[in-house]
Amino acid sequence: MSLKKKISMTVNGEAVSAEIDPRRHLVDFLREDLFLKGPHLGCEQGACGACTVKVNGQIIRGCLFLAVQADGSIVETIEGATKSGALEDLQNAFMRHNAMQCGFCSSGMLLAAAELIEKQPHATRAQVREWISGNYCRCTGYHSIVNAIVDVLSARANA
Ligand code: FES
Ligand code: FES
Repeated sequence: MSLKKKISMTVNGEAVSAEIDPRRHLVDFLREDLFLKGPHLGCEQGACGACTVKVNGQIIRGCLFLAVQADGSIVETIEGATKSGALEDLQNAFMRHNAMQCGFCSSGMLLAAAELIEKQPHATRAQVREWISGNYCRCTGYHSIVNAIVDVLSARANA
């Protein structure tokens, strides 16, 4: 008897089916089986946000979310968001402000920031800091990341 479970989902706009171990986490499935290396593995216990991806439009921790839980869902990673152009102004702002150094946190940080911009388009600097407090960055000291996000909030508000 096979202990594998069959799953199907849409990942970055493409239909994907696989037979997997039910204990397999979504981020492992994305990175190892689908070769989507944008989501990273840091703490593996839900604290750092490096593994952030979107499931049905919500950001989730890919290290705490089982791949079988995403069965039938729409999954988006930084690769898909980049391809769609939805994050272009945010990604440009991160580059302008030097808001990424090693880049390990960047995919999660960008997806979290994009969700903030969508949900709170008039967020204050303090709210930006609060929002990204669940995404750890060991390099930048956060100021440049906050500056980049505030820049995009202001540019979109004035567009
Ligand atoms: S690796 Fe998932 S939150 Fe840190
Ligand atoms: S840029 Fe290195 S962890 Fe954020």
